[in-house]
Order: sequence, then structure tokens, then C-alpha cells
Amino acid sequence: MQDFTGKLVVITGAASGVGRSLAIAMAEAGARVLAADIDEVGLEETKAALDAIGAISYIRTCDVTSQESVDALARQAFEALGGAHLVFANAGIAAGEAGPLWGYSDSDWKWCFEVNLWGVVHTINAFMPRLHDQAEEAHFVITGSGNGAFIVYPDQPVYTASKAAVQAVTEALYLQTAAQQSAVKVHALFPGPNIVDTGIFDSDRVRPPRFEKSEDAPDSGIHSAEDMRRMMEEYGMELKTTHPDEVAQMALEGIRKDQFWILSLNRGSEAQIKARMDSILKRENPPIPSLG
Ligand SMILES: NC(=O)c1ccc[n+]([C@@H]2O[C@H](COP(=O)([O-])OP(=O)(O)OC[C@H]3O[C@@H](n4cnc5c(N)ncnc54)[C@H](O)[C@@H]3O)[C@@H](O)[C@H]2O)c1
Repeated sequence: MQDFTGKLVVITGAASGVGRSLAIAMAEAGARVLAADIDEVGLEETKAALDAIGAISYIRTCDVTSQESVDALARQAFEALGGAHLVFANAGIAAGEAGPLWGYSDSDWKWCFEVNLWGVVHTINAFMPRLHDQAEEAHFVITGSGNGAFIVYPDQPVYTASKAAVQAVTEALYLQTAAQQSAVKVHALFPGPNIVDTGIFDSDRVRPPRFEKSEDAPDSGIHSAEDMRRMMEEYGMELKTTHPDEVAQMALEGIRKDQFWILSLNRGSEAQIKARMDSILKRENPPIPSLG
């Protein structure tokens, strides 16, 4: 798709970070935006930013862990707003992890998988049949993470496992729709090339009571990009960050070029992916990856 003018774009996780930047970038490219999130205050801020650039936009409170909630979002898009042509399954959380794999509670695992994996599954279930029936060129973009899709970072095992599953779902969806020569194009968006300075480090702000954190839960002590920067400086490393607006521009370009892998790597991550793939092909034990 080259021209986004007047197209409706639906974005989950649009109250912050990458989702908000996607909303603004798509609106600047002429699209109408239906922004969805569990965070009502953040959504209002996104709406204000969209109003400020004169965009046609709508906001909706939506919890991606609930199929009903995402179905209601899809009904708004297709029944009230005339159909959607771009859907971003973007909502995601990180559980602020640290410590050994056996130190996490069921609540940590379930929250992370319910948002990151089930959120994507619910969005596929709600939107793909409607996009398919619409039978017009459309794009379904899933926000993954190289952490899980390509590399296994031992410090964030729960998030990593959820994003590995997201990658499998995304690729399977791509392969199925490609085999059907569907009008719906599927894309895997990887925010980067560096850590993207968003609210992801402070996901606890939107952690619902039903997934309450246990008092003895391991805590990395990193609740912002700034915390991460300080921690890395202690080890003599420099943290490079990417602004979410750059990710949004990369997404637009990837859609225009019909790319499945909407991905930008830095030298460090590229070398780590190669090292992991080599270890698999040579049957060598996995190299230990590091951030940066
Ligand atoms: N920031 C990075 O470096 C980075 C790197 C790779 C992948 N990602 C992925 O990018 C996506 C966007 O994250 P971000 O970095 O912009 O973080 P963010 O915290 O700024 O934005 C995530 C949004 O998801 C929303 N959300 C959380 N739970 C929800 C739920 N149950 N229902 C609906 N919305 C919910 C939050 O309220 C928030 O607005 C995520 O999928 C994340 O895993 C981020």
C-alpha cells in the first residue's frame, strides 16, 4: 500500500511509546486512526497529539487480554467506521525481570503471556476474518521483539519466551496468508535498532490487580531507559536508544515496500543473531548474549 489517505488504521497499545508514534505517523500520512489501549489517561494524551495535527481519530479503551474487548474494537472499526485497512497488534508489556527462571510467579508468566501472546491472538481472531471478507488490500502488523524472535536474553526469560511465541504466530500467519494469496499482508515489526525509549520499562503502571506482583518477585531495578543507562554505565557500557518516531517511520516504509521483516539491527545484535545461528548449524552450545 502506497497511499494511506482516508484509510482507517487500528492500533493496540496506542497510549504510549511505539503505538502512539505509529498513530501520529499514520495520521500525518493521511490515515484515520482508531487508537486503543487499556490506559485511558495515555489514550487521551494520544488523542490530544492527534487533534493537534488535525487528524481524524477515535480512541477506545480496549484490553487485549480479553477476546470480547478486542471483538468490540473490531466491530467499531468495521460496523461504525466503514472497515479497516491497517491493523497494528502492538500492545505489549515487560515484567521488569531479574533472577533465575524458577523465581517467577504464575502471575508474572500469565500477565506477560496474556498481553504479549494472547493479545496478538485475540487481535488476529477479531480482525483477520473481517479483513479477509473485506477482500481489499490490507496490512496486519505485529510488533515482535528480537529478544525472543532471534536472541534469547537470559535476564528477561518470561518476556523472551512470550516474544518467541509471538514470532511463531506471526510467521505462521504470514505463511498461511501468502499461501492463500490473501489481500491481507502480514508484517513483523521489530522496534529498534537500539532499545526504544518508551514506557516498556515501567509496564507495572498498567499491571491489572488480577495479575498482582508477588512481594518477593525479582526486580531488575530498571524501570526506565534512564535506569538502564545508569546500570550500563556502571559496567563501562554506553546505552544507545532509538526514538519511537523512528520505529513508526520504519513501519510505514516497510508497509510501502511490502516487507515481512520490518527490522533494523545494530552491529551488536546482528553479530549475536549470527553467533546463535552458527551455534545451531554447528551443533555448538549457545553463546551467551549481552545487551549493547
Ligand atoms: N521499547 C523497546 O525497546 C521494544 C523493543 C522490542 C519490542 N517492543 C515492543 O513494542 C511494543 C510497544 O511497546 P512500547 O515499547 O511502545 O512500550 P509502552 O509501554 O510505551 O507501550 C505499550 C502500550 O501497551 C499498552 N498495554 C499494556 N497492556 C495492555 C492491555 N492489556 N491491553 C491493551 N493495551 C495494553 C500499555 O498501556 C502501553 O500504552 C510492545 O509489543 C513491546 O514488546 C519494544
